[in-house]
Amino acid sequence: MIKTSELIWQDTQHQVLLKMIDEINAKELDASVFRRLCEYAEMHFVMEEEYMQQLNYPFIDEHILAHDKFRAELKCMRLEHHSYDEIFRIALSEFLSEWLKGHIFGIDKQLEDFILKSNFK
Ligand SMILES: [Fe+2]
Ligand SMILES: [Fe+2]
Repeated sequence: MIKTSELIWQDTQHQVLLKMIDEINAKELDASVFRRLCEYAEMHFVMEEEYMQQLNYPFIDEHILAHDKFRAELKCMRLEHHSYDEIFRIALSEFLSEWLKGHIFGIDKQLEDFILKSNFK
């Protein structure tokens, strides 16, 4: 099936993460970048979760569970690394890249298709 449109808000928000990964890869990690990442992720997850609730999305539980795992992992990384050093930066970059491949190109795409078929975009 040819896709004729995409879910603009979701795609735009995913682009933000892509830019953040580039930023993290390009320079030193610091507290403000990490805080921005956490705030961005929370804002984005809440928005997807609200859509799923509004639309009675059938796979809502597993999707929220995946978001919760991401939330917990970020918290864990912050606690495990006592400074924003190179090791933290690399670990974070790898984690986010995996997330992009596994979640954003995976179950987020399924959600996108579902929302696009609804009247509530
Ligand atoms: Fe997403
Ligand atoms: Fe998601």
